[in-house]
Amino acid sequence: MPETNNNSLMDSIIALCKRRGFIFASSEIYGGYNGFFDYGPLGVELRNNIKNIWWRDMVQRREDIVGLDSSIIMHPNIWKASGHVDGFSDPMVDCKESKLRYRADQLIVFEVLLDNELGGYIATLEGCELSEKIKQAKKIRNLKGKKEAKIDEKKLGSKGTEFTDIDKKDRLITLGPDADVLGTLTEPREFKLMFETKVGSLADESSVAYLRPETAQGIFSNYKNIVDTGRVKIPFGIAQIGKAFRNEITPRNFIFRSREFEQMEIEYFIAPDADWKSLHREWLDNCINWLASIGIPKESVSEDVHPENKLAFYSQATTDLMFDFPHGRQELWGVACRSDYDLKQHQEHSGKSMEIFDEATKLKFVPHVIEPSLGVDRTLLAVLTAAYDEDEIPNDKGNVEKRTVLRFSPKIAPYKAAIFPLVKNKPELVDLALDLHKKLQKRWNVFYDASGAIGRRYRRQDEIGTPYGITIDFDTLEKDGAVTLRDRDTTKQKRMLPEELFAFLESKIDG
Ligand code: GAP
Repeated sequence: MPETNNNSLMDSIIALCKRRGFIFASSEIYGGYNGFFDYGPLGVELRNNIKNIWWRDMVQRREDIVGLDSSIIMHPNIWKASGHVDGFSDPMVDCKESKLRYRADQLIVFEVLLDNELGGYIATLEGCELSEKIKQAKKIRNLKGKKEAKIDEKKLGSKGTEFTDIDKKDRLITLGPDADVLGTLTEPREFKLMFETKVGSLADESSVAYLRPETAQGIFSNYKNIVDTGRVKIPFGIAQIGKAFRNEITPRNFIFRSREFEQMEIEYFIAPDADWKSLHREWLDNCINWLASIGIPKESVSEDVHPENKLAFYSQATTDLMFDFPHGRQELWGVACRSDYDLKQHQEHSGKSMEIFDEATKLKFVPHVIEPSLGVDRTLLAVLTAAYDEDEIPNDKGNVEKRTVLRFSPKIAPYKAAIFPLVKNKPELVDLALDLHKKLQKRWNVFYDASGAIGRRYRRQDEIGTPYGITIDFDTLEKDGAVTLRDRDTTKQKRMLPEELFAFLESKIDG
């Protein structure tokens, strides 16, 4: 359940992303396409940095994890074996009045008490603000002809109940989020989430294929190839980054829930008798520390332990790492213990053995698996949320001015530094600045900007999260060759020789 809701923060982030070229609505010139997004010049840098650091930390800097890049469209039997063809769906509810469609588990129902008597229920989308709920409750008050009755706001501020959990008779007196009369929401029905396509020249049932809804099955279906060709030994992991597609009923909250997104998944294979509880805990800590390393503070991450009675039948335990997004506390990273379910399913459906021989114990078994599964786009939204800030700093004339700043960690910032000649009409200064830009560019993504007052140039970089501004001035030229390095967050400046500058940037960016 969301605990906070900051729509104005979300609006500011969306506006900044568009204004500065991070993220655009897909197909914008045709009015957009719900649930799809395009990443602009800065967005693609930020996204690549997140993926590259994840790959570096989870694959290249570990001896026990190897990588994979499997195809998006795979044999349809994979999705039969995994259970997706029959079971990958969400409960959906239609509103007969507004013709809108909702995910039943995201509709939260609140009791409306009028002078302490039940007037009906309102169903709201998760994360709905109290003021909006009161507006809905007032509609019920009007429908009941009790214009003066007191609405119990405490009830509206409570946790609420999922639409799927309320009685049928209560649904008949429930007001939908976009309805004006009671009882217009239908019973929940299952809605299949996989996108279908056709492969080959025959357009019959046998040609039906699916766009993968998760990268994980590409890992399970290649597990045997990797065991047979690599030098992996239990415990070991296979990691993959790639696109996934889900026909979400209600894509919303910007890039939080979209229909095309990217996942970074690991299947970590362990012995059936391993201490999976400790390994699960280890993975959770590892994930929390990794998020902190890219600028997502530990205080904004919490754990949602799925209760045993709500676990999927094959799951031993699942804990979601939740992040305080602007629209509320929501899942960022799922860490599940999936037992040997997937490999056993593929063993059965393909007829190929999924056993591994463990040299250490001389035992043969189908391993169990721990699965940390993270969305690239959700990570990017979390990074933007954690980094977004507005503060006040003095301008060139010493007057205090408001600024918008993205306090990205230097590791993931799209540009690591911006290089400025103090003035653009002094060729020797410009040459020095261009020379430094060329040198830094060999190593990092850096920006060169010679136009406008220096304060304005700093501000433009603050807004896109460039951690350092490097200015070449007359002293650089005439005295010691030192440059001025300005820190985005403190706005403090210090002079540095070029060789110190390289060591400084290296320690901040590559650490
Ligand atoms: N293989 C397990 C799996 O796919 P999931 O909880 O459905 O589990 C894992 O998805 C992660 O993928 C989520 O924690 C989230 O970060 C991301 N994700 C899932 N659906 C998404 C969507 N519609 N839009 C953006 N990210 C999504």
